[in-house]
Amino acid sequence: MADKVRFFDTTLRDGEQTPGVTFHLNEKVEFARRLDLLGVDVIEAGFAGSSKGDFEAVSAISRAVKTGVCSLSRCTEADIRASADALRDAVKPRIHVFIATSPVHREAKLHMDRQQVLEAVVRSITLAKSLCPEVQFSAEDATRTELDFLYEIYTAAVKAGATILNIPDTVGYATVQEYGDLIADLHAKVVGHRTDVILSTHCHNDLGLAVATSLEGLRRGARQVECTINGLGERAGNAALEEIVMGLRTRKDIYGLEDNINPKQIYRISRLAAGMSGMEVPPGKAVVGGNAFVHQSGVHQHGVLNNRATYEIMKPEELGIPQGSMVLGKLSGRHALREHAMELGFQLTDHELNRAFAKFKELCDRKKDVTDRDVMAICREQMHGSVGAYSMNSFQIFSGNKMTSTATVSLQKDQDIITRADCGEGPVEACFHAVDQITKRKCSLESYQLRAVTEGEDALGEVTVRVRHNDLVMLGKGVSTDVIEASLLAYINAVNRILEALEEGAEKDC
Ligand code: KIV
Ligand code: ZN
Repeated sequence: MADKVRFFDTTLRDGEQTPGVTFHLNEKVEFARRLDLLGVDVIEAGFAGSSKGDFEAVSAISRAVKTGVCSLSRCTEADIRASADALRDAVKPRIHVFIATSPVHREAKLHMDRQQVLEAVVRSITLAKSLCPEVQFSAEDATRTELDFLYEIYTAAVKAGATILNIPDTVGYATVQEYGDLIADLHAKVVGHRTDVILSTHCHNDLGLAVATSLEGLRRGARQVECTINGLGERAGNAALEEIVMGLRTRKDIYGLEDNINPKQIYRISRLAAGMSGMEVPPGKAVVGGNAFVHQSGVHQHGVLNNRATYEIMKPEELGIPQGSMVLGKLSGRHALREHAMELGFQLTDHELNRAFAKFKELCDRKKDVTDRDVMAICREQMHGSVGAYSMNSFQIFSGNKMTSTATVSLQKDQDIITRADCGEGPVEACFHAVDQITKRKCSLESYQLRAVTEGEDALGEVTVRVRHNDLVMLGKGVSTDVIEASLLAYINAVNRILEALEEGAEKDC
């Protein structure tokens, strides 16, 4: 029987270290549920000792999913105890202990020598093992650490009770061959014949090699791979889960490995990660990019029409990529929408369903064909949390190329309708200024993205904004066939989240 690879997803921990990205607690829990559906073996839910927000995320995810849940910990008693506490309700808890081992990190960051690092590792793993049945250890910056020290430290980690040895290429420095050799070497010298200990890859993408090094690590003996959806992560990101899954499956002749992943969930979770992070997937991105299955040249189109295998090594439907078919119409009811949303991987609450249904009906009046992609965009908007203190009632704009744009916006708050007018550089800015007048909060726009959900003049526009109020930065989403309306909805969504965070007394963690 073929060996199995365990998928360890760290989107919610290393992925959240993407510059400018923060996830909301509800989003983290929803995302973890999707990872569970996707079939990942372990979810790194956060770094419980690092903040109250991370502690809550690890606890909430531990209660929400059946799959493995992991919390990262430095080699300190406080971190390890925080992880153990946060993981209390997890079905399969795991503490992930790490410390930097390379000379540059030991000297410039830790101010510790080899012996001190070794002692901290043994002490920490021993404590973690006394609190949690499964302990993973990472030597941060392993690929720039002296080989003899790596053998020593990983051997000591196993002796102290770690059964998963993660080998981080923290700064994406290793070549593909070097990383493969390191895994093979550690397998021979540290794992040996032990069947209860496995090696794990953790590769960063600084030189664009993260997926290649991960796959080579698996080919040379690792049996766990750490990765993130869409390759989110610190600097140039981590290895992308979807590329590794499809690499292993498409070239099973080379890797010969099984996994627990359901690839049909890949596209949905990729879209969710893009929506939550505000990091849109580039069209040319492998597996989930918008162009991944588009054939432009006549020769290619001809070949694909005759036989898709000419230019396609994967089938888009196997990844759950909607084929743009018309799915629901004007006469479809709430029940049909709920069922269909569920097929697309969205479990809407009653409240979300009501709002999604109203939006869907509105869309049926405005747009000729309502497709899977439209339904997904509507669901994403609802899941992002369109509930809040303010909701849109109406807006009017007055704009042109030789005048200052003005907007009059009416928002509903409880039973009141509040109307204000303001001006701006364009109609969108004028609307945002009018909202600020209503909420009496001065906010600034950090980023703005507009994406057409489908093709055609009546396409739905999905707007993602990042809005700042003092230290708080929130992401907002809005969907409409009218770009100004989508922008306004996104802005209101972000402002509602800012107000909610202010009410909860949050300073920064959003
Ligand atoms: O890149 C890295 O070294 C890490 C460790 C904490 C595993 O993310
Ligand atoms: Zn990392």
